[in-house]
Amino acid sequence: MIEKIKRQLHSELERALKVQFSIEVPVIVEEPKRANQGDISVPVFPLVKAFSKPLVEVVDAVRSLILETSLNEYFESVDVFGGFINITLKKQKVASAVIADFMINSDNIGSCAFGKDKTICIDYSSPNIAKPFSIGHLRSTIIGHALGNILEKCGYKIIRINHLGDFGTQFGKIIYAYIHYGSEEAVKKNPIAELEKLYVLFHEKAKKDPELESKAREIFRDLEQNDPKYQSLWSWFREESLKEYMQVYKKLNVNFDSYDGEAFYNDKMKTVIDELKAKALLVQDEGAMIVDLGAELPPALIQKSDGSTLYITRDLAALFYRKATYDFHKCLYVVGNEQKLHFEQLKRVVGLMGYPYSEDIVHVNFGLVLQDGKKMSTRKGKTVKLIDVLDEAVSLSLDYIVEKNPDLPGKEEIAEKVGVSAIIFNDLKNYRGNDFEFNLQDMVNFFGQTGPYLQYTSVRINSILAQAEFQFTGKVDGSWFEKDHVYELMKTIGSYGEIIEKSALEYAPNLIAKYLLNLASLFNTLYGKDRILVEDIEEKQTKLHVLYMVRAILNDGMNLLGMQIIERM
Ligand code: ARG
Repeated sequence: MIEKIKRQLHSELERALKVQFSIEVPVIVEEPKRANQGDISVPVFPLVKAFSKPLVEVVDAVRSLILETSLNEYFESVDVFGGFINITLKKQKVASAVIADFMINSDNIGSCAFGKDKTICIDYSSPNIAKPFSIGHLRSTIIGHALGNILEKCGYKIIRINHLGDFGTQFGKIIYAYIHYGSEEAVKKNPIAELEKLYVLFHEKAKKDPELESKAREIFRDLEQNDPKYQSLWSWFREESLKEYMQVYKKLNVNFDSYDGEAFYNDKMKTVIDELKAKALLVQDEGAMIVDLGAELPPALIQKSDGSTLYITRDLAALFYRKATYDFHKCLYVVGNEQKLHFEQLKRVVGLMGYPYSEDIVHVNFGLVLQDGKKMSTRKGKTVKLIDVLDEAVSLSLDYIVEKNPDLPGKEEIAEKVGVSAIIFNDLKNYRGNDFEFNLQDMVNFFGQTGPYLQYTSVRINSILAQAEFQFTGKVDGSWFEKDHVYELMKTIGSYGEIIEKSALEYAPNLIAKYLLNLASLFNTLYGKDRILVEDIEEKQTKLHVLYMVRAILNDGMNLLGMQIIERM
């Protein structure tokens, strides 16, 4: 709400300066640097030169303009403080506006429409077939899913794409190893673990017999040319792996519009290569085909000397396919920092091909998950199995619930929601580009900067509202809003939509996560100070309205982040 008032004031002030003084200088409307200086501050220094009058006169003139704006009904006082004009708003007026706004948007709170009629493709999760779903893929899944929800709230149409790593020379190796050392029974029993074992075994054998490498390459080449025997093995491996990933997606409540992975583009790369040739961008380099990207970037390797294609070749084909199919406004790739160079190269190649939408390729990068400061891995140096991590979080949550509330009915189901949401929240509260420490014990704590803390706060409000049999009518007694801690909470409630907008523009779910923590903590402070279920009906109604809005936002925000809402815990 304050942001809305600030924006309005900004545009009215600039207009008035132009109309009345023919001055066209950008006006600054900001929040005061210090507490007790009101809600909004306008620094006058930047205008002095344009006025070419002494500061005191300029301050006077600007103050009069501010008082003449349509917002003046909100002003409690407009004070001069050195070269600043500080505006204090009428608390009750702001609070009523927040409530009115909430009611207008009650079926989709915090929503806006700036993405209307635009499509955003989000490429996320994208694990590699025959390999375990790693903690890195978990980050991609969580961040991508949340961004989809957040952008959808801003009006965009979202296409969720799981660009499975289901193609590449490694499949030649896995197929070779399966034919020579594998068994159908073992793969059926434990698909990913078994396929991974075969992959490792291949490398052990290939160390002693380098011939195997070229045999695997041949197999992959035949696979690329649709050899039916290899094709059927490949699609079986893919199917079995996908079944395992689906268990994770089910736990996380995540779904996709498309599971077209790298293999889907097998027959779509020739046109890309032809186009690169026709545009004279492909150069021979020791038998391979590359695109030279100038001095700052290493060349993009498009085709190997044996004719096989690469990761980037498939990403080019995928991008063109997505542009043609979805006509995206942006195409996001939620992928770790380690692929920064890959996406820079992709962008550059597309730019060189003459497509302006190379600018719409966005690498939504993220950092590593660390344990004791090191990249998270199991003792043997293998990647951590995600499903085990999720299960552990759930079991820790259950311990916690049993300790706090042993008689709670449906404990197991609740623990499932708490544990998984705890992991999601812990990931999203950090700025995605940074690495973060993974500590399950901390994440499931009900009283920290955690997911369970938000769920618990929402549950607490549930029980108060249920006791009071509350109905939201919008009729309130404003005097309570005069208290500083209540006003602070109302301002925060009123800024939910602005936070969503900012987090959508910056692809930064952490802004919403931090906001929700702040909202919950303001509420808990208030709950410690003020009795809610008082005798006076009007006062009680007013307080319950505030609680109702807090809960609605907490639930909506948790939902945006991909967390689960809980009724009781
Ligand atoms: N499968 C890749 C990996 O695990 C991620 C794919 C990301 N998406 C893409 N279009 N390149 O590293």
